[in-house]
Amino acid sequence: MEYDQVVLGRRSIRGYRPDPVPRALIEEVIALALRAPSSMNTQPWHFYVVGGEPLERIRRGNTERMVAGVPQSREFRTGGAFAGPHRERQVGVAKQLFGAMGIARDDAAARQDWVLRGFRQFDAPVCVIVAFDRDLADSDDTVFDCGAAATAFVQAAWSRGLGTVINSQGIMQSPVVREHAGIADDHVIMKSIALGWPDEDFPANAVVSERRPVSDAAVFVGFGDGDA
Ligand SMILES: Cc1cc2nc3c(=O)[nH]c(=O)nc-3n(C[C@H](O)[C@H](O)[C@H](O)COP(=O)(O)O)c2cc1C
Repeated sequence: MEYDQVVLGRRSIRGYRPDPVPRALIEEVIALALRAPSSMNTQPWHFYVVGGEPLERIRRGNTERMVAGVPQSREFRTGGAFAGPHRERQVGVAKQLFGAMGIARDDAAARQDWVLRGFRQFDAPVCVIVAFDRDLADSDDTVFDCGAAATAFVQAAWSRGLGTVINSQGIMQSPVVREHAGIADDHVIMKSIALGWPDEDFPANAVVSERRPVSDAAVFVGFGDGDA
C-alpha cells in the first residue's frame, strides 16, 4: 500500500471477525512500529500482545468491575471533561458512530451496550497493551514517544489489512490488566490497542471521522504573503 492510502484509508475499527491473527504477522507489524522516532532513541515502549483466555479474563474483569461501580484506575493522567471545540469534536465523532449503528440519542440501553463493547475492546481477537519504562515516567517525552509508536503500529497494521482501535476503555481497571497481561512492575500501562480483521459488515467501521483543515491546525511563519 502507498503511504497516502494507509493514512487516508485507516480508521478505527470497532467490529472484528473472530478469525485469529497469526503471531508472525503481529511481529511484522510491531517491527514496523519499532521504527518510530523517540526522544534520544530511548525507545521507552513495551508491547504486551494478549489473546486467548488471558484476554477474555481482562474483558471480563474490566467489565464486571466497571458495572459494579469500581472507580477506574488507569495509570495515565486524564484531564477534566472536554469543553469548547474539543467537546464539539468528541460529540461529532460520537454522533457519526451512533448514527452508523442506528443508536438513538434517547436509547439508554443501546448506548450502554456500546459502552460495554468498549470495555470488552470491541471483542477483538487480540489486544496490545502499550506500556513504558517506569524510570522514565517523569518525562512527557515518554508519553509522546508511546504515541508515536502507537500511531506507527496502527498504520502498519492497516497496511497489512488489519484493523485497530486505540482505546482507554479496555484498560479502565489497571489491576485486572496487570494480572492477566503479566505487566512487569517496572512498566507503566499507557494505552491499549484492539487488533484484528475488520468485520466489513459492522456499520461503525465505515465511519470516517472528520479533521480540521490545515489552515486551522497549522500556523505558518516566515513564508511570506502575510502568513497565517
Ligand atoms: C489516546 C486515544 C484513546 C482512545 N480511546 C478510545 C476508546 O476508549 N474508545 C473508542 O471507541 N475509541 C477510542 N479512541 C479512538 C478515537 O475515538 C479515534 O481515533 C478518533 O475518533 C479518530 O477516529 P479514527 O481513528 O477513525 O480516525 C482513542 C484514540 C486515542 C488516540
